[in-house]
Amino acid sequence: MIEPSIQLSDAEIRRFEEEGYLSIDRITSDEDLEGIRQAYEELFELRSGHDQGDHFDLAGADDEGQPPKLPQILNPARYAPALEQTLYRANAQAIARQLLGPEAEFQFDHAIYKPPRHGAETPWHQDEAYWNPDMEYQSLSIWMPLQEVDAENGCMHFIPGSHRLEVLPHRPIGGDPRVHGLETLEADSSLAVACPLPAGGATIHPGRTLHYAPANHSDRPRRAYILSFGLPPRPLDKPRRFPWLEARQTAREERARNND
Ligand code: NI
Repeated sequence: MIEPSIQLSDAEIRRFEEEGYLSIDRITSDEDLEGIRQAYEELFELRSGHDQGDHFDLAGADDEGQPPKLPQILNPARYAPALEQTLYRANAQAIARQLLGPEAEFQFDHAIYKPPRHGAETPWHQDEAYWNPDMEYQSLSIWMPLQEVDAENGCMHFIPGSHRLEVLPHRPIGGDPRVHGLETLEADSSLAVACPLPAGGATIHPGRTLHYAPANHSDRPRRAYILSFGLPPRPLDKPRRFPWLEARQTAREERARNND
């Protein structure tokens, strides 16, 4: 068990509550970051999790033989257990407990890789649009870049205050039901705030904050490693419908089904 080395200030906690996101310059050590980078590169080289449906193209139809537009690995720590024993994870958990309460637990991790001059944009969305509409969530995601990020190579953008919205209508990216990634056409991007960060910095946002990341226009890969934490989800009194999830038919779900 690694001891956390970070604590948010009261001003940071207030900013998170008011704006619906927070950006911090440092969440882990250089040494920890280097270990994560090595595990991360190996996972993408080996296409770990492909057969389980955990490694797929977030923005394309995942056709075999096509280079992925936005390669992503769900649950990378399953394939690289060293990722469970990082200072990043200990610090992310400490932050989640400051923001959500001591019951907050790790929920899942994912890795989004944007190849140089190749990565697609991650369109505007709310994370909760991906989740079970029958449940109520109090969750947040901590997004750490493994190299410096800015608007040129795909840093995070947020719409302040959007965490107070309900879940907006979403659809698969480009309206293609074979695509796993979701987008909403109802975000007002003129309100967006960009969050450039050094390697090992982080942004933190809850499930309803509208966010977006541009394509990678630089000559270097853009790697981000995301950890999600939350309180145990509770059944909603008034169930919702997310029709964009009902219509989805992706190759990754097919692989996950065949692998069960
Ligand atoms: Ni997201």
